[in-house]
Amino acid sequence: MSESPWFMTRTVFTKFAIAYAVTMAAIIAHPQAIANDGDACFIATAHPKATAAGCKILSKGGNAFDAAVAVTAALAVAEPYASGLGGGGFYLLHVSESNKDIFIDAREKAPMEITESAFLDNEGNPVKEKSREGALAAAIPGIPAAIGHLNRRYGALPLKVVLAPAISLAENGLEVDARFIRASNWVTERLQRFSKTSEIFLKNGEVFEDGDILTQRALADTLRKISERGVDAFYKGEIAEDLIATVNRHGGVWRSEDLSNYRVVEREPIKIQYGDSEITSAPLPSSGGLVLAQALQVLKELNFPATTGVPIDHYVIEAMRLAYNDRARFMGDPDFNQIPVDTLKSSEYASKRSRYVSNSATKSADLPSVKNIAIEGEETTHFSIVDGYGNYVAATLSVNGPFGSGLTSDNTGVLLNNHMDDFAIGVGKGNSYKLVGNSFNSVEPGKRPLSSMSPTFVRSEKGLLVLGTPGGSRIITMVLLSTLCYVHDPHCDADKAVSIPRYHHQYLPDRVQAEPESFDRAWVESLENIGHKVEIYRRKWGNMQAIHCAPFGVDCRVANDPRGRIGVVF
Ligand code: DON
Repeated sequence: MSESPWFMTRTVFTKFAIAYAVTMAAIIAHPQAIANDGDACFIATAHPKATAAGCKILSKGGNAFDAAVAVTAALAVAEPYASGLGGGGFYLLHVSESNKDIFIDAREKAPMEITESAFLDNEGNPVKEKSREGALAAAIPGIPAAIGHLNRRYGALPLKVVLAPAISLAENGLEVDARFIRASNWVTERLQRFSKTSEIFLKNGEVFEDGDILTQRALADTLRKISERGVDAFYKGEIAEDLIATVNRHGGVWRSEDLSNYRVVEREPIKIQYGDSEITSAPLPSSGGLVLAQALQVLKELNFPATTGVPIDHYVIEAMRLAYNDRARFMGDPDFNQIPVDTLKSSEYASKRSRYVSNSATKSADLPSVKNIAIEGEETTHFSIVDGYGNYVAATLSVNGPFGSGLTSDNTGVLLNNHMDDFAIGVGKGNSYKLVGNSFNSVEPGKRPLSSMSPTFVRSEKGLLVLGTPGGSRIITMVLLSTLCYVHDPHCDADKAVSIPRYHHQYLPDRVQAEPESFDRAWVESLENIGHKVEIYRRKWGNMQAIHCAPFGVDCRVANDPRGRIGVVF
């Protein structure tokens, strides 16, 4: 396709401004305006069993937060390669009662005895396998704490009720699907290397076949213990001891305090005013909200979507490049760094940064490097839920790579993440997504690695869009493209927002990646002619799960990314 998805002119756009102001006031004043209609269940997840678990809880009178717990646990069972009790994630909530947006940071934390040198060879170069596979790769999980926090603070139903669907799914088993098989094929050797992992996730040491049943009795027991005794059952006592024994037998450095001291953190979400739309997204330690904010601010400075003879996507690519440059230079765990968040998302700063943009491609090498921190001027999963009480949730959860570190603890069925690889190990050396960084995101005890996961709400005159996606470093650009589509194109509904063709630039490597079979030769040439390197990537990426609700009422629509349905994800 050569036509850009956001063809709406500024003139047309402004026609909506007045209607928008009235509508937004009404949404804010009447947060319960969004209501479920009879049996309608507005839940978008990457797996039908997880959607069913959430819908069951809503039908029992649970709210969106109860459903979020049920979905989180069911995804841990149904998509163990993507998220789970051994991983972490972020939840963006809208709480109708207080009319507030709340961000729950359940990102994993580095264990207290870790050092960066554990990941380096004698010459000081990162040894990739160490942060990607096995015990050292695993950071202290946050998902069980998120389950407890959501349930205690926001839920309406007992943990026993909300975890029941996941327990029965783990116990009775489920048919493996094409996505499970594909993820297993990618990392078969990793799965074979660890005996418990192989026992549970392989069949006689080989990848499951279509129609095989995956049963996870140990995980069912772990979930049952949590449902009966609360999340302390995970972070203290026999489960914690089993995790620590497994990790340390495989060369890790976990201590009981790492687990018993783990807490989720509620943080202020990032709010961005873009034209007449308000975008709410993930704050640090996710880079999502700040990168989105910067990209959108730069686009505003450039009068996007006005064009001046160059392809309109050129400006979006340049905005991506600049925002990811600052991601590499300034972003990391806010509890460990003084990060100039207000400056980075300010229009004054965007105005200075936008001077890098011309009618031809900027060279990433000409931008300040990660060493320069002076301010100038199928794996992972996302779900969205809207309930009948005016609450909604966007959550992105992950174990990082497919099946995370590959290490499953001896007796708990808990598969551990490999999120230590999201730290910048070695300044300017890329991680598995080729993302670079510096000391802001260096390995430190108790620190959370920088993330790209971006659960997001967009509120505009069209209503509410709840969205997010897996996809590593490309998560933020997917959310950006869908937001631009939704905001600028009057025909961009939830289905279009999750389906539009995707391209991506992350500063380094200096190239535009584009999905295959999505852009014609003319589009590629128009960018190459002005100096962009364009790489048609070998497969499509992402698995966006969105819900759109029109203002005032029952008119919500669930949209699942077609890439997830046809199995071409990541
Ligand atoms: O937190 C992050 O940014 C990554 N660990 C997310 C990984 C991911 O999305 C992998 N998915 N396809």
